Amino acid sequence: MDARALESEATSAISGSSSLEELEAARIRFLGRKSELSQALRDVRDRETGQLLNPIKAHLEQAVEERKNALERAELDRKLAEEAVDVTLPGEEHPVGSLHPTTHIRRLVEDAFLGLGYEIVDDREVETVHYNFDQLAFPPAHPTRSPRDTFFIDPFFIDPARLLRTETSPSQIHVMEAKKPPIYMVSIGRVYRRDEITPTRFPIFHQFEGLAVDRGITLADLKGTLLHVMKVLFGEDRQVRFRTHYFPFTEPSIEPDVSCPNCDFKGCRMCKFTGWIELGGAGMVDPAVFENVGLDPEEWSGFAFGCGLERAAQLRYDITEIRPFWENDLRVLRQF
Ligand code: PHE
Repeated sequence: MDARALESEATSAISGSSSLEELEAARIRFLGRKSELSQALRDVRDRETGQLLNPIKAHLEQAVEERKNALERAELDRKLAEEAVDVTLPGEEHPVGSLHPTTHIRRLVEDAFLGLGYEIVDDREVETVHYNFDQLAFPPAHPTRSPRDTFFIDPFFIDPARLLRTETSPSQIHVMEAKKPPIYMVSIGRVYRRDEITPTRFPIFHQFEGLAVDRGITLADLKGTLLHVMKVLFGEDRQVRFRTHYFPFTEPSIEPDVSCPNCDFKGCRMCKFTGWIELGGAGMVDPAVFENVGLDPEEWSGFAFGCGLERAAQLRYDITEIRPFWENDLRVLRQF
């Protein structure tokens, strides 16, 4: 064996290895137990050969160590460069939805009444003639009992005929049947009417219905409550007026109007050129209704109101059409 030739071959194999695997292969080949050098060292019988081979072995081992360090450092540098995070790159955008304007206004209404100590109740959308009309003292020939005005599920002459409720007022009956006064409740939900579509009317819409039953309640309590909630919903700038009206289940009855946010009394399509927008109906609970649910009208008094939720949102956000509330056009909804 030519020791010097072996040394130079091994040195160049070690320094020329370009990965840790290649380096390990070279180490096994030149320094491993079965390598020529190890074999020769085992066979050494004279001092001179030992003095020649041992330094070569030490030198090669050192070369392996150095090459190993260099390769490991290079590997680390490569990884660091590859895995580096560029904190200046723009982040990924995660789209976040927004609340539907109906939901917005619903939550405002709920908050306003919770603040007054009212209970929020959920109710059914499929009703019977009994709850939607009879218990609310609608006379037998009232026009809204007709299938021209109301969506019946069963033929209207069947008893009990089911229908899509035309107002949230049946909730008044359910609550008064379920618990004893004092009652302070608000019921919010969808109602259905065979109506022509206009800027403020749609065959499906939401109402919030309120009912207060207690001793000694007066019309002033009703007006004060409505004025307070309208301030919360529409701010101080909108004007409010109450017109007398008629509902079968309240006496006396009133209708609250809010000044048109769109034209400020100049007149526009939204307010039908009157300057006012009708928000809903209200009144003192009719003694006939108290009798229907077994409450003594001499002992108890109360008020009720029902207002359109989309209408309220239109007034708050100055939206001149009701249709977009039901079209789910993202270009509209994203603005809320
Ligand atoms: N239910 C009536 C409507 O939809 C509104 C109303 C509710 C009136 C409560 C009086 C009392 O027009």
